[in-house]
Amino acid sequence: MSDPLATLSALLAPIFAELNGGEPSDPTVRPSDRADAQINGALSLAQRVGSNPRELAQRIVDSGVLGDVASELEVAGPGFINVTFAAAFLEAQLAEVVADDRLGVARAAGTKRVVVDYSAPNVAKEMHVGHLRSTVIGDSLVRMMEFLGHTVSRENHIGDWGRPFGMLIEHLLDLGEDVASEGLSQGDLDGFYKEANAKFKDSEPFQERARARVVLLQNSDEDTLVLWHRLVEMSNAYFNRVYTKLGVLLTDDDLAGESQYQSLMTGVHQRLEEQGLVSESDGAMVVFAPGFKNRDGDPLPMITKSQTGAFMYATSDLACVVDRVERLGADLMLYVIGTPQAHHLQMVFEVCRMAGWLTEPTQAVHVNFGSVLGADGKMMRSRAGDSVKLVDLLDEAVERADASIAEKNPDMSAQDRGVVAQAVGIGALKYADLSTDRIKDYVFDWDRMLAFEGNTGPYLQYAHARICSIFRRAAIERSTVREAPIVLGHTAEKALAMRIMGYPSAIDNTLDSYSPHKLCTYVYELASDFSSFYQECPILKSDEPMRTSRLALADLTARVLEHSLGLLGMIAPQEM
Ligand code: ARG
Repeated sequence: MSDPLATLSALLAPIFAELNGGEPSDPTVRPSDRADAQINGALSLAQRVGSNPRELAQRIVDSGVLGDVASELEVAGPGFINVTFAAAFLEAQLAEVVADDRLGVARAAGTKRVVVDYSAPNVAKEMHVGHLRSTVIGDSLVRMMEFLGHTVSRENHIGDWGRPFGMLIEHLLDLGEDVASEGLSQGDLDGFYKEANAKFKDSEPFQERARARVVLLQNSDEDTLVLWHRLVEMSNAYFNRVYTKLGVLLTDDDLAGESQYQSLMTGVHQRLEEQGLVSESDGAMVVFAPGFKNRDGDPLPMITKSQTGAFMYATSDLACVVDRVERLGADLMLYVIGTPQAHHLQMVFEVCRMAGWLTEPTQAVHVNFGSVLGADGKMMRSRAGDSVKLVDLLDEAVERADASIAEKNPDMSAQDRGVVAQAVGIGALKYADLSTDRIKDYVFDWDRMLAFEGNTGPYLQYAHARICSIFRRAAIERSTVREAPIVLGHTAEKALAMRIMGYPSAIDNTLDSYSPHKLCTYVYELASDFSSFYQECPILKSDEPMRTSRLALADLTARVLEHSLGLLGMIAPQEM
């Protein structure tokens, strides 16, 4: 264990238990403004055992359990204990982090089988900023959980089935595969969809063809399936281009579209019926989950089968849960989907509980997120009033980053700049998305997200590049300072070291609520602590052994910066 606060908790556990009559009692260790840490647990313990909190705090201090760890212990206020860590203790813990490839982050004690449902664009429809959010948030959670040692399945639940495919396939036939494929895989998905939709509205014969085609599709007609498959493939080629640009983990192996659950749905529906959960309402099959009401306060049904006998979006999500629990053995399912689908998911989860498919300790969590807004505070739109194409945003981010790097670092070759601009542009976009609490809306603002100052992607990447440049200037190989002892003399050194050792708890806190912005805040604080250290503690100009000690601290900072940015899905260039 290399987090000093966690070490403190562990050392205090026995005495707290002893004072609590043998039962464990949380020492409640927190960071402190006045000292390095503060122990708050004596207060609640005193209340429980009926003694004076200050006296109890004093007994904990006098027990000597923190003798090796603290250079100063002070009982304050109604019974807090302020702790100042002994430099030797922090230095020893820091040395463990230096020597650890995992930078002090232990593997999770109980590893879980986790399914993360994210990205999920729709075939023959443009990806928009909502899909950006799902993709970026989901990807970062996957990276964190995999790093902790959990077994994670990524599932890209693309919308590749349903009524619109009748008209889409007919439109594909009208255009001919070559023309259609050009438009679709080049990213004119919306154009294709809109054309099909317009024909459907205007032409009676086309409507009939589309309807007949849906029936053929549902009955697994072979020729129809071939056409459907082409459509899905073309869209996937396009999605993959976006994923590559964006630098996310998703591949074709992660596709788990709605179509894949079609064959399961009959069985799932039958199981619902056998349990007596299904009733008929206006010719449709529905399940009533207690507590769900419509606007008039009447019970709201979940439709599982339409009047025409077709399964619904909700039914495919039921089948999904069954599949994830029964085939994949999932302990935890995360649904990274926008807030508007909260109601849909709550109902799906509730019906699964009623059917006994979702039972403790298996958990399903809606990792919801807010909208991306334009400067006018409304849903982000293009100038023409359409939703903004994700791929255009990605290209613009890289172009803008390229221009700003050219300005800041005119000596960099165009080739190097291209690579760095990719990392900085995409990183800025991802960081802007991840760094606000996901449940809130955020305003999309190019200038802000690409600024080199403030809580932005470029600022953090720059902090990392700056450390690399210190080593470059001094012509020192970073790995050569890793054996050197780090001495924590200055308060800025100590603050930075404590932050570095807080990395494991930053990850834990982030995953407690699946909120990547918490890790963002940590990385920002780390960069800020480094900046104070750099201002107050000369590195290259100091004498040995301080010079090497400070270089080693800088190197460790860069390692944690690079690694934590990596967990957010961002690349940290050496130079920018
Ligand atoms: N395709 C849907 C959309 O674009 C999202 C699907 C989310 N996943 C799920 N299991 N329902 O809105």
